[in-house]
Amino acid sequence: MYFHIFISNCNHLADILLLLFSDLRVTVLIISAILGVYWIFYVPCNWTKSLQSVGYMPAVNSINFWKRINSCKQHSINGFRRPRLIGITELPPPYPNGWYCILESSSLIAKNVTYVSCLGEHFVVFRTFDGQVNVLDAYCPHLGANMGLNGQVKGDNIECPFHQWSFRGSDGTCANIPYSHTEPKGIKVRKWICREINDGIFIWYHSENEKNHWELPFISAVDNKELVFHGRNEFYINCHIQEIPENGADLAHFPSIHKAFLLTGLEKRGEHLISRIVQHHWEAIWSTSVSPKTHVATLDLKHSIHLFPKFNILEVNVQAKQIGPSFVHLHLKSSLFGQIEILQTITPVEPLIQKVVHRFYAQKFFGPLIKLMIFAESVMFERDIVMWNNKTYRSKPQLVKEDAAIKNFRNWFSQFYTENSKSFLESRSALDW
Ligand code: FES
Ligand SMILES: [Fe+2]
Repeated sequence: MYFHIFISNCNHLADILLLLFSDLRVTVLIISAILGVYWIFYVPCNWTKSLQSVGYMPAVNSINFWKRINSCKQHSINGFRRPRLIGITELPPPYPNGWYCILESSSLIAKNVTYVSCLGEHFVVFRTFDGQVNVLDAYCPHLGANMGLNGQVKGDNIECPFHQWSFRGSDGTCANIPYSHTEPKGIKVRKWICREINDGIFIWYHSENEKNHWELPFISAVDNKELVFHGRNEFYINCHIQEIPENGADLAHFPSIHKAFLLTGLEKRGEHLISRIVQHHWEAIWSTSVSPKTHVATLDLKHSIHLFPKFNILEVNVQAKQIGPSFVHLHLKSSLFGQIEILQTITPVEPLIQKVVHRFYAQKFFGPLIKLMIFAESVMFERDIVMWNNKTYRSKPQLVKEDAAIKNFRNWFSQFYTENSKSFLESRSALDW
């Protein structure tokens, strides 16, 4: 009898499915819904913005086609003017000493080679057959070919595409010149100290050529895959690298820039009705660490969303560790979604162009919520970008006593500059050829 009921249920189900799929529009709708649900739960999202698309108001706001062309033109003109406006004579060196993420691990599969240009340097990055990542200077010491473009991985070595000289990944020495009978003694390219950690490939950059003084932390939930990668965002920003971490110590900007509800724009943000109904509240403390972790500073942040604006509907505690000049580990805890880890990396592509990436990790089934969070974080971060893209740099800002953390931040950050850190003008002249 149960068997009969089962068979008849199956028949019903088959009939219903047949009925639904007989109409093409319904079929498309069902398949889209299934794909949509799959995407929202399981596919990492990618929110990327180019340099022009955030923070240059005329280009973003204009809807008229002709106006848009004009504003883009204006933007390019501004591109040339910006270095003069940004406080050129007051700027600190553009490349502080520390670890920099030059590539995300997923961009480099085994036996692959790529070329990366940042920090005023040119790198060939390659992954050997057994998964080891090596970073060498990109230009071959023979006749200067770029080994990052069409170079080939041969075992643990990289082979130059021009005349097939081969260089060891472990130390950059020349291992083989296929058409020569002489030993390639003393021929080498620079080998960069690198680490693959927390889904990123990092190099150690130091103006005095010193070895790394400290290591990046191993974030176990990320590296051991206890948490799942749910997505990333990526921005290019026109400012000095120091401006971005300074944001964490700039406590007064939180209520000013980030209080208005995220669906309102930055301009006229206080006037929207929704801003009076929903508000973001922030309590922030910025502090430095003692030896041997003097390269670490911490921002303890309590973020809450208020309704009307008395009712606290969501509270998130964030601990943001600024580790050296370019890496931030944000650890979030909430009763709603448990543990979330966000990793921020900043890479100076040029003296005043920063590539910023945030990668988001959380438990497996929190896909929809984390996507919402990526949207929210991106919108909030874009409010900062509007400021960074258009501000000048003040080496001696007029501060009040409530701004004390900014002064402390600048003292702390100055440890990443040393005697031979190239000035902005020296770094810039390397680009003018
Ligand atoms: S330029 Fe690289 S082998 Fe000749
Ligand atoms: Fe901010």
